[in-house]
Amino acid sequence: MTPVPSFVNDVPRERLPALLAAAPKAELHMHIEGSLEPELIFELARRNGVSLSYPSVEALRAAYAFTDLQSFLDIYYAGASVLLTEQDFEDMAWAYFQRAAADNVVHAELFFDPQTHTERGVPIGVVINGLTRGIRRARQELGLSAALILCFLRHLSEDDAFATLEAALPYRDRFIGVGLDSSEVGHPPEKFARVFARCRELGLHVVAHAGEEGPPAYVWSALDVLKVERIDHGVRSLEDPALVERLRADGMALTVCPLSNVKLCVFPDMAQHNLVRLLRAGLKATINSDDPAYFGGYMNANFQAAFDALPELGPAEAYTLARNSLEASFVDAGQRDRWIEQLDAVFRAHAA
Ligand code: HPA
Ligand code: ZN
Repeated sequence: MTPVPSFVNDVPRERLPALLAAAPKAELHMHIEGSLEPELIFELARRNGVSLSYPSVEALRAAYAFTDLQSFLDIYYAGASVLLTEQDFEDMAWAYFQRAAADNVVHAELFFDPQTHTERGVPIGVVINGLTRGIRRARQELGLSAALILCFLRHLSEDDAFATLEAALPYRDRFIGVGLDSSEVGHPPEKFARVFARCRELGLHVVAHAGEEGPPAYVWSALDVLKVERIDHGVRSLEDPALVERLRADGMALTVCPLSNVKLCVFPDMAQHNLVRLLRAGLKATINSDDPAYFGGYMNANFQAAFDALPELGPAEAYTLARNSLEASFVDAGQRDRWIEQLDAVFRAHAA
């Protein structure tokens, strides 16, 4: 664990909200399809002549009362059905990047779900080209750095994942890694052992959702079978002390998503979230928004909600969480160190 510089402890508590907002951060767990706000869903539905089963923005938003991961995924895939053209994917990404920049996210590694689109007849090139256009615009107009991580849908077969990888390979230079998302329980990481081995051979970064709803055994197999470089969520790891020790010894980052965990009933409320226990156990936790349009907020809302509900979180934890996000990103060391210098400067400016 990186030690916290001494000036961090000179930040008065009342400056925490401003500091949380101002700190430069990396977002490492955000599904770009989960940033589709109801207003944009309706706009794209109108533009593309897609009919929705909700009469209004308000009715759609009112349906965002989830009981578990699957109850969310059903609505999330329905929302994504309005995305048809490169322009749609660019508009979705651009809307997210504007929000991210406002939250001082300096770098975002975005998940996207090609199978959600190819199974509706949208070519993978349309998806990747549109998202790439959004990324280019974010770099040019916002100075925000971003990259794509292609996620395989784990409720589908490994053969489907191989076909998706094959279709994506002409665009190999447009994404930096692969991930694993969708319905976790019943679809353990080892189901995708061969396709992840192939992705590693191709030099792709590898991450996987594990230990969100699934048991610690899924985190073990994400580590040992898929050989992932980060665990997405991983909050259930605390149930297994040997796993905690393994994650700590490896310096393995967990991309924790506080508002998501509460919305999907992984924890009954934010006061019972285990973020403090993860940090106290020496685990490299980060804060992320997962599906911000569905879960009630973007990056800074996630920080603020966690800090409001968990009084043990103070300036040292704010520093650690932001710094972990920069360290756990896949950017080169020079860029990462420049952002860490900026992080230190923001904390110094808020110190008494
Ligand atoms: N878990 C699994 N799959 C997902 C998620 C998530 O939190 N968000 C979008 N797809
Ligand atoms: Zn996720």
